[in-house]
Amino acid sequence: MGEKKELKFFGRRKGKAIKGSRERLLNELLPQIKATLPQNGTIDFQTYFGITPQEIWLEIGFGGGEHLAEQALKNMDVGIIGAEPFLNGVTSLLAHLNGSHGVESTHTGLDEGRMDNVRIWPDDVRQMFPYFKDGSFKRIFVLYPDPWPKARHAERRFINQFNLKHLYRLLADDGRLFVATDVQNYADWSVEQADISGLFVQINDDIRKPPEGWVPTRYEKKGIAAGRIPSYLVFSKKKTK
Ligand SMILES: C[S@@+](CC[C@H](N)C(=O)[O-])C[C@H]1O[C@@H](n2cnc3c(N)ncnc32)[C@H](O)[C@@H]1O
Repeated sequence: MGEKKELKFFGRRKGKAIKGSRERLLNELLPQIKATLPQNGTIDFQTYFGITPQEIWLEIGFGGGEHLAEQALKNMDVGIIGAEPFLNGVTSLLAHLNGSHGVESTHTGLDEGRMDNVRIWPDDVRQMFPYFKDGSFKRIFVLYPDPWPKARHAERRFINQFNLKHLYRLLADDGRLFVATDVQNYADWSVEQADISGLFVQINDDIRKPPEGWVPTRYEKKGIAAGRIPSYLVFSKKKTK
């Protein structure tokens, strides 16, 4: 019963109508790189991508996919799983991966060797959790999660006790959980939730300084342009006795 309630998704799944080359990307490109779930057991990442990945990263709520696409291009030996239920965001990521962002294109195939390291789950990431082995991910990104500022919506915030328990299981022992937000209350909330969980420790001293190799998201750029101040939180797993 609890599980069902916790898996309710409160965000938007669709924005403006998806037409033309964007629609073609959904119909033709997405099936080529859509994340699949095994009939039984957990995902074998060694055979999941077009590459044999050196490590696996997970991006939760990739929005328009700018961060994911750039990380995938910069880290071709890393397998990246991205989850996003907002279909217009998924098409935007596909356009970035396909090299056709912002242009009408009839080309819906990945260029040779490009983005063999990406798999997309166009839905709620929590549906995938049972299919991931313990310690699967070296990096998990939760970037600019929906803040749900009203106290009565607090349980909708992605950083919560239920999700932290799962993220703890999924993160490698030497892995890192990256949370970024430009809502100060959400930053405080995340640190507090991590603390309450007893599972994570925040390890970066200066939360105003982007971690090394940081790639800003679209949301982050918009926020900075509007005068908002990002907080970057890096967590590692707390060693249990
Ligand atoms: C404020 S947007 C930020 C998007 C992007 N990370 C950025 O910084 O530009 C938060 C995103 O998280 C997604 N999201 C919320 N809950 C999610 C879930 N359970 N699984 C996957 N994505 C989720 C939403 O659909 C939304 O696109």
